[in-house]
Amino acid sequence: MQAVAINGSAREAGNTEILLQQCLKTLAFEGIPGELIRLSEKRVTPCTACAKCFKNRDGKCIITDDAFHEIYGKMCAADIIIVGSPVYFGSATAEMTALLDRAGYVARANGNVFSRKLGGPVVVARRAGQNFTYAQLMFWYMIMDMIVPGSTYWNIGFGLAPGEVKEDEEAMQTVTRFAENLAWLAKKIHE
Ligand SMILES: Cc1cc2nc3c(=O)[nH]c(=O)nc-3n(C[C@H](O)[C@H](O)[C@H](O)COP(=O)(O)O)c2cc1C
Repeated sequence: MQAVAINGSAREAGNTEILLQQCLKTLAFEGIPGELIRLSEKRVTPCTACAKCFKNRDGKCIITDDAFHEIYGKMCAADIIIVGSPVYFGSATAEMTALLDRAGYVARANGNVFSRKLGGPVVVARRAGQNFTYAQLMFWYMIMDMIVPGSTYWNIGFGLAPGEVKEDEEAMQTVTRFAENLAWLAKKIHE
């Protein structure tokens, strides 16, 4: 089993990444290795709505001059997909929605390849917009036919400057429990 955690923030090693690393650390402790992908280091352009993925049904997006296929391949290979986004003006980042739009369309055009994979979103903001962004990302998981375990709270955190979310103890505990539940569920499914 393996996990992938995708950071949709424009800045590396910020608050989103802290929450994602906490998830990966918890999964690793439970025996499930994982990889962090930073969209800040990769260029994924938006979906052009050409619908060629539905016409060709070859598991590919027609846009090939960016990092999409490298990331999509890792998502397809993973048993657990966690996505993390800071809140930008009440929503997930453009980087994250570009990836999820394209990955979602290609996956749906090719037999719903994310079906019954596990995962879920984590979200962080300075002050407001976490719930909306969490719900926004949950819509993706639900239409992807994926399975999202709960936690003791929603996977949201508070923080502005990089590192501040570590002071949000409840957020750290919530994402830890979320990752424990992912591991618990993954082991049950694979036993
Ligand atoms: C363009 C932009 C828009 C933002 N919009 C919001 C917002 O709507 N609500 C909020 O509470 N924080 C907002 N923030 C603050 C970030 O969500 C916050 O700094 C977060 O910790 C960033 O996560 P990161 O460290 O992973 O990049 C915004 C930041 C930027 C750069």
